[in-house]
Amino acid sequence: MTKLFSSIRWKVLLAFFLIIGLSFLVMAGTLTNLLGNYLFEQRIRADRAGLEKLAVQVAPLLSRGEMTALSERLNRAGSDLSGRLLLLDADGKVQLDSYREAHGQRIEYPEVVSILLLGQTADYGVHSLKTGEEVAMDNPLSFGRGEEWVSYSTASVIQSSKVIGVLLLVSSVGEMMRNLYTLSDNLVLIFVVVAVVALLAGMIFSRVLTKPIVTLTEVIGRMSKGDFAARVPETGSGELKHLATAFNSMSERLETLDQSRNEFVSNASHELKTPLATMKILIESLIYQPDMQTELRTEFLTDINAEINRLSAIVSDLLTLVQVDAHSMRLDREKMSLSAVAKETAHRLEPMARQRGQTIDLALEDSGDMYADKSKLRQVVYNLLDNAIKYTQEGGSIHLSVTRSGRDIVLTVQDNGPGIKAEHLPHVFDRFYRVDKARSRDSGGTGLGLSIVRQIVLLHGGNIRAESEEGKGSRFVVELPVHKG
Ligand SMILES: Nc1ncnc2c1ncn2[C@@H]1O[C@H](COP(=O)(O)OP(=O)(O)O)[C@@H](O)[C@H]1O
Ligand SMILES: [Mg+2]
Repeated sequence: MTKLFSSIRWKVLLAFFLIIGLSFLVMAGTLTNLLGNYLFEQRIRADRAGLEKLAVQVAPLLSRGEMTALSERLNRAGSDLSGRLLLLDADGKVQLDSYREAHGQRIEYPEVVSILLLGQTADYGVHSLKTGEEVAMDNPLSFGRGEEWVSYSTASVIQSSKVIGVLLLVSSVGEMMRNLYTLSDNLVLIFVVVAVVALLAGMIFSRVLTKPIVTLTEVIGRMSKGDFAARVPETGSGELKHLATAFNSMSERLETLDQSRNEFVSNASHELKTPLATMKILIESLIYQPDMQTELRTEFLTDINAEINRLSAIVSDLLTLVQVDAHSMRLDREKMSLSAVAKETAHRLEPMARQRGQTIDLALEDSGDMYADKSKLRQVVYNLLDNAIKYTQEGGSIHLSVTRSGRDIVLTVQDNGPGIKAEHLPHVFDRFYRVDKARSRDSGGTGLGLSIVRQIVLLHGGNIRAESEEGKGSRFVVELPVHKG
C-alpha cells in the first residue's frame, strides 16, 4: 500500500481521477443549469401568453367598471393558469383577487413597478413565498431547498393606448424545483459511481504504465548485486521500449566487461603461477640436495634467474597494460616525429637482429611532426619490431616503414617469417594470446605485447591491423592521426 501512495503510480491515479471527476462535475453542473433555465423559459412564455390574452379580454370590462363580470372571468382564468390571479388598478391597488384576500391592498412588487413606472408590458420574477425576496433565475440550483418558491408574472392592461391596470399571476414553481433537485441528486449518485469506476480504471491504468519501470528497478537492483546477466523484457512500444532496449544493451556491455575482467584476472594469475611453480621445484631441489654438483647447482640458479626475469617482464607488462587501460589516463602529447622514433628504436634492436643474422631495412619518409605520446609510441614500435625479430627465422629480413597518407601517418612492420595462421590472426591482439605458447615463452614473451600496442594506438585515436600469409610473413599496419597540437 505504501508503494501505491508514493511514486508515479499514485500521481497517475490522482491525475486520472481528477480529470474524470472534474469534467463530470462541470458537465453535471452545466446540464442542470441549462435544464433549469429551459424550464423557466417555458414557464415564462406560457404564463405570459395566458396573461396577455387575458389582459386583452379584461381591458374593456375594467374600463367600464364591470366588476362582477371581471371577477368571474378572473376566477376562471386563475384555475386555468393554476395560480392566484390579481387585478390591480393604475395605482397598484388590488381591485380583484382570485383568492379574495388582498382587496384594496397596494402591491409594490418589482414586477408591478416595472409596468406602472417603467412602461414595460410584461415582467417575470421568482420570489421566496415566505420573505418575498427575489432570486436570480439564471442559477436555479442556488435556490435554497427548504423554502417554497413562487413566480410573479405580470402583464399590462391597456385601453386606448393607456395603462389602466396590471394583471398579476402568482404561481408555485416548487414542483419544477423539486424535479431539478431530483435530477441533481441523481447526478451526484452517478458521480459517486463514476468516481469509483474512475478510481479502479486509474489503478489498472497506472499499474500497466508503471510496470516496466518497476521491472527495470528490480533488474537494476539485481545488477547492482552482481547479476550482470539480468535483462528487462523489451515489450510494449514507444519510449519505455527504447529505454528497455538501451538498458539491455548497456547491461550486455557490462556483462562482457565483467567477463573479460574475470578472464584477465584468471589468465594473469595463471601466467604468474607457472614461473613460481618452476622456481619452487628448483629451490626445493637445491635445499634437499646440499651435496649437489656445482655445475648442476649453477644451472638451477641460472634457471631460477630466468624465471625471475620472466616474472618481472609479466609484471611490468601488466602494469603498462593497466596504465593504458585506464581511460582516465591522459596522453602526454608532445611535438614529435614518428620517423625519428622508428629510426631510434630500430637502432636499439639492431644488435639482436644481427645476432640472428637478420636484416632490418628502413623506409622512413620525413612524415612531418605530430602531436603524440612519444614514449608510448616508442613502445609500439619496439613491440612490433621485437615480435618481427623474435618470430622470424634466422637470416630473415624485416622491413620497417613510416609514410604519410592523407591526415594519417602510417607505420608498417613487415617480415618474411612463418606468418600467422588465419584462425589465429583475429586473436593476436588479445591479452595473453600466443600462437605457440612454448616458443613464445622461450623467447621471453608474455602474450601482452600486442594488446598493449593496440591500446596505445586506440588511445591516440588510430587503428591497427595484422595481415599475414602463412609461410610468407606477417605485416602489422598502424595508422595514427597527425593531431594538431
Ligand atoms: N611478426 C610475427 N610473426 C609471427 N607471429 C607473430 C608475430 N607477431 C606476433 N605474433 C604472434 O602473436 C602472439 C602475440 O604477440 P604478443 O602479444 O607480442 O605476445 P608475445 O610476443 O609476448 O608472445 C605471439 O605469441 C605470436 O604467436
Ligand atoms: Mg611480443
